[in-house]
Amino acid sequence: MPSLDKFIVRGGNRLQGNITVSGAKNASLALMPATLLASGVSRLSNTPRLRDISTMSTLLETMGVRVKHPGTVLELDTREVKNFEAPYELVKKMRASFYVLGPLLGRFGEARVSYPGGCAWGPRPVDLHLKALEQLGATIEIEGGYVLARTKRLRGADITFDISSVGATGNTLMAAVLAKGTTVIRNAATEPEITQLAGFLSRMGARIDGIGSNCMTIEGVDELHAADDSNIPDRIEAGTFLAAAAATGGSITLENVSPQHLTAVLAKFRDAGCDVSHTENSISLNAPDALQAVNVSTAIYPGFPTDMQAQWMALMTKAPGTTTVTDTVYFDRFNHVPELQRLGARIEVTKNTAIIRGVERLNGATVMSTDLRASASLIIAGLMAESSTEILRVYHIDRGYEAIELKLRNLGADIQRVDSEDY
Ligand code: EPZ
Repeated sequence: MPSLDKFIVRGGNRLQGNITVSGAKNASLALMPATLLASGVSRLSNTPRLRDISTMSTLLETMGVRVKHPGTVLELDTREVKNFEAPYELVKKMRASFYVLGPLLGRFGEARVSYPGGCAWGPRPVDLHLKALEQLGATIEIEGGYVLARTKRLRGADITFDISSVGATGNTLMAAVLAKGTTVIRNAATEPEITQLAGFLSRMGARIDGIGSNCMTIEGVDELHAADDSNIPDRIEAGTFLAAAAATGGSITLENVSPQHLTAVLAKFRDAGCDVSHTENSISLNAPDALQAVNVSTAIYPGFPTDMQAQWMALMTKAPGTTTVTDTVYFDRFNHVPELQRLGARIEVTKNTAIIRGVERLNGATVMSTDLRASASLIIAGLMAESSTEILRVYHIDRGYEAIELKLRNLGADIQRVDSEDY
């Protein structure tokens, strides 16, 4: 059972100082299954120490991969892979487990992967993954909640996604690199995590053109070899800390970050009145005492990321006037709203748009984490609120943020992790 710790956050401190951003969770969760495509030992540096990473490590170990995680270097030995199944117990914990489907089909021609359920905020289908793999020649059956996939050998295909999907692009890419012939993936996701995955596959010997664009052409090869890689910084962790600084009138500098992955987010902080500057691998933000109301509509990369939607909403709860936050990627990703309302925020949700009316102050209360980014929004709101806020079920936040309370304390936040009986 995950720890039922809670955070106690006392608002009012301005965040100041420097922190180092960890490696990108959503890149690591793609790079790790990609190692299944070759037999050998891969070392993935700048891998964050997160619950989701250990869940993926456990899944790969059930397949026969030997995993070591000294420091931030993740070492994966895939010379003894013999089990091609991703069990329900692990897939239900983390949807990204579904990423093993493509590489297992590509290298071994068979896979039995539990059908991912919904997540905290609603259904998250995998139809685009399955349709693309069928176009590559896989036979797909759904049986007892599992996806049974098999093929003699995948064949290249010309695939156009109806909508841009990070996971479907990743799975298809990992399946296509060992297929016979040429695959074209159109309307591919261009998130930096997919670009990182395509780069890693190239280092393993895959032949991919159009990396970083929404149209990639893959010439299948017969075999790949293990390779090492260094992971990109986590752009969402970076955006979350910038939001915490902006929420408290603070002044921080993030080290080991890629500003070019955050252009849409940095523009919104500037619109809200923050002074934002950056070097090649750092970002500095000086916040005003009071933020301007700035509307946001999420979009696929390089637009404003849906994974920053909840954090931005928290930020806008005290901005004078009215702010609208629309999520065009997940229409129902608003579980953080009732919890923010418990802190005194005035928010109404109509369809996939939240209307926030700025209030003078937020008041501390006990609130419940429901999912990873919703938890981050509650911490930000707690930093803005009078008195103290208790945030329950912080195992959600441990999935995607490495030692967040230590990093925030280093910036001057008053935040403690305590054991909790309530849940
Ligand atoms: C990835 O999820 C991320 N997770 C998510 O981050 C992120 O929110 C999401 O991309 C969007 O950027 C990982 O990378 C592990 P999608 P993914 O497929 O791949 C629909 C976090 O907080 N869709 O790009 O599952 C889907 O319902 C997590 O770190 C289909 O309809 O997202 C959604 O509306 C949360 N059919 C849209 O596409 C499919 O087969 C985008 O989803 C697949 C997706």
